[in-house]
Amino acid sequence: MNQRTPLIAGNWKMYKDCSQAAETAKTLLELTTGVKDVDIMIAPSFASLYLIGNILKNSDIKLGAQNICHRKEGAFTGEISASMLLSCGCSYVIVGHSERREIFKETDDNINKKINAVINAGLIPILCVGETESQRDAGDTFKILDKQIESGLKDFFADNLKNLIIAYEPVWAIGTGKTATDEQAQESHKFIREKIEKRFGKSLAESIRILYGGSVKPANIKQIMNMPDIDGALVGGASLDAKTFSEVIKYK
Ligand code: 13P
Repeated sequence: MNQRTPLIAGNWKMYKDCSQAAETAKTLLELTTGVKDVDIMIAPSFASLYLIGNILKNSDIKLGAQNICHRKEGAFTGEISASMLLSCGCSYVIVGHSERREIFKETDDNINKKINAVINAGLIPILCVGETESQRDAGDTFKILDKQIESGLKDFFADNLKNLIIAYEPVWAIGTGKTATDEQAQESHKFIREKIEKRFGKSLAESIRILYGGSVKPANIKQIMNMPDIDGALVGGASLDAKTFSEVIKYK
């Protein structure tokens, strides 16, 4: 058994207005009281971060943001800074989600700068990586993962990355109901851990948490969590309902 504490994180994407988000957060708090040995995080929209931050204050559920601007402050209309996220009570930031890469054209270089901003602020980055269906079909999965990690973590050293979390989210499994098989997920997670070892050394490779994301739900979480290199899940659709998400969290 490894020493890594599992993390179950909910990415609410662009769902829920403030009152719906508050309602879900409160119900989730009730349904997860007493849960031990699992870290829990939810990432609501920016609009409800402050509100949810207050609801989660002094609880065991941590608050995360879905994105960040790499700059400290300035004339960057529509962006949000690390200090703003901290002031809302955030401790985690999701960086480089495939929806940001694909729809909003974020590049590995943007992502590298964002990770830097997250780390400099003392926040915990969750770097998302994953191949598209056509990349998998072309046999390029590992090549893509290698590039996303290499470029996303360019110029970092193991010492800066102690808190880093990586989420492996195969794009073809996101919101599609198609989950990677346990073996497919494990194979990619193992590849990622080995890549971290080659690049940053054994100690970081052993401590880094690698989450799986893509159609995780109560029915498949247990199997997924049985894989030796899978340390948690980044959950989209199944995190929107407090009861369903609490079942994912209580997978043990
Ligand atoms: P689904 O769980 O809805 O497939 O979304 C996964 C995801 O993108 C989490 O970041």
